[in-house]
Amino acid sequence: MGQKPFYITTPIYYPSGKAHIGHSYCTLGSDAIARYKRMQGYDVMFLTGTDEHGQKIELKAAEAGITPKEYVDKIVAGFQELWKLLDISHDRFIRTTDDYHVKAVQKIFRDLYDKGEIYKGAYKGWYCTPCESFWTETQLKDHKCPDCGREVKWAEEEAYFFRLSAYADRLLKHYEEHPQFIQPESRKNEMINFIKNGLDDLCVSRTSFTWGIPVDFDQKHVVYVWLDALTNYITAMGYGSENDADYQKYWPADVHFVGKEIVRFHTVIWPAMLMALGLPLPKQVYGHGWLLFGDGTKMSKSKGNVVDPVILCERYGVDAIRYFLLREIPFGADGNFTNEALIGRINSDLANDLGNLLSRTTAMAQKYFDGRIPPKRETEPVDQELIGMATSLRAACDGHVETYQFSNALADIWKVIARANKYIDETQPWVLGKDDSKQERLATVLYHLCETLRIISILLTPFLPNTAPKIQQQLGVSGKAVTYATADVWGTLPVDAVITKGETLFPRIDVEKEIAELIAILGDTSQKDEPKAAKPEGVVAMEQIGIDEFAKVELRVAKVLTCEPVKKAKKLLRLTLDDGTGERTVVSGIAKFYTPDDLIGKHIILVANLKPAVLCGVESHGMILAADCPDGDIKVLFVDGIPAGSPIH
Ligand code: MSP
Repeated sequence: MGQKPFYITTPIYYPSGKAHIGHSYCTLGSDAIARYKRMQGYDVMFLTGTDEHGQKIELKAAEAGITPKEYVDKIVAGFQELWKLLDISHDRFIRTTDDYHVKAVQKIFRDLYDKGEIYKGAYKGWYCTPCESFWTETQLKDHKCPDCGREVKWAEEEAYFFRLSAYADRLLKHYEEHPQFIQPESRKNEMINFIKNGLDDLCVSRTSFTWGIPVDFDQKHVVYVWLDALTNYITAMGYGSENDADYQKYWPADVHFVGKEIVRFHTVIWPAMLMALGLPLPKQVYGHGWLLFGDGTKMSKSKGNVVDPVILCERYGVDAIRYFLLREIPFGADGNFTNEALIGRINSDLANDLGNLLSRTTAMAQKYFDGRIPPKRETEPVDQELIGMATSLRAACDGHVETYQFSNALADIWKVIARANKYIDETQPWVLGKDDSKQERLATVLYHLCETLRIISILLTPFLPNTAPKIQQQLGVSGKAVTYATADVWGTLPVDAVITKGETLFPRIDVEKEIAELIAILGDTSQKDEPKAAKPEGVVAMEQIGIDEFAKVELRVAKVLTCEPVKKAKKLLRLTLDDGTGERTVVSGIAKFYTPDDLIGKHIILVANLKPAVLCGVESHGMILAADCPDGDIKVLFVDGIPAGSPIH
């Protein structure tokens, strides 16, 4: 019987700037899962790549005085080098400038047009000529271009539209019938609300720039970059080409890993496109959180953090970086990257817990038995807990990997490491070693430690692919004894294994000295030349403020009592709030996104000490917090369940 296929993808990255550690985060998560699945015997297809078209890249290339292709070629090479450095085991790398992809996208566009799913219409909106951009009413700032602040004019442009609005019900039905389709659960609720607010047809062509895939039957249009990009998941498998064997084999994908800000594209636009094409939908879209930088620790307060993945790998080794990123942050959540936390994990988890367990075990095996543990055993009840934990570890890791919680898998591995270290303290092999009558007991203890380390090394392989073989080498095991199949079979370590104490896996880092050196690097030009790495785009660019400045803002939970439109102001809603001390009126520019019924009874976050302001004749006392989402959508932050009046710090 053939192996079961497993198809996993990362987003395809924009090569508008250098590959940075934020990109590495998602790619590493995907890599760990791909490796784990391969170890389990799946026929894995792991796809990553680059999303190379669009106006932004066209502009960047023009600024650099080179062609867009020359511009992306250089940056894409950097992505590929970084994946090599981080030991990413992707099976395929797609570039949206690849010829086969371009042809397949043209075919998909044409097919959708022929089926009537794409139609020709007019794109209407406020147009900023210098920026060549259309804006919606709500995106404008003081009725000017939100990017450059210049005048805008009402304009219409011929464009193609995809009938997205026709798919709302089918999408909602799909979510309901496939509860695993959007994960984690919280992201699903966001998408349901988004669809319920109404879907417009989607403009899927542009004429304002040329760096894109031309619509082959109407060459002055290029295909909208998201339509071009999303199809990569099938074109990379040969869909739309002469040889679609891989498409037949691997599609639908088991999971698309994507950052939380692009879940919407993957769970609304992408499935609607697939439905329109009559193709199966991916089994799951997993929206992971963001890696954030600068949480007010010593380094970040003064200078930021050293975040360039190349520098980090040079200083600590690839596996330390892999371990930190995979262990520190539960995959669905946001988490902070700080150099101090990274060094802390290296010293405590890798050097102390894992490193010491291996070095103590191998050193004792050499000292007492010259590296060959005698076969006679003398067991004691204390052994059982360790054996039980070690042999059930594989099943525990399998469970976590199934739900993409590699951080939990690593946490469970470290529980066994901690148990094994405790076992050394309990059994005191150095005392046994002094007593000739205890040799069999000593041999048993050391065998148990080696066997535990063998199991740990197997399950660590997908996460720390360089470290696991080093452990196995020191234990003198190879072949069947290092396979997934034997990771729950106690007693697999051969009696004739030759155990040697090898190099230290992770040398301890002197924290003070290291921080001083990192601060020097930050002062050095090498990092200043790489602002993109220090501040990955969109996600981490942030001006830092002190806690005292933040404390000036009084945030409080409030309940919406009444809500009504403001006359002659299409954008505004007038809300009466219970803020825990009484009632107040707040005016909010969210009428396009919420009806009064969506808001009445909800608990929201209020900026309670904002100076009153008069908006279209109504005095507003405060502001409610909402998130600016991609594509101009606005989402109010609801905190239902928290009593009105509760202060927020
Ligand atoms: N090109 C689109 C994706 C198209 S997929 C069909 C895109 N590219 S991107 O380069 O801007 O972002 C790619 C991924 O990197 C996103 O999933 C984004 O969330 C992720 N990250 C970028 N910075 C990040 C962090 N700091 N932390 C975690 N992931 C972040 O969007």
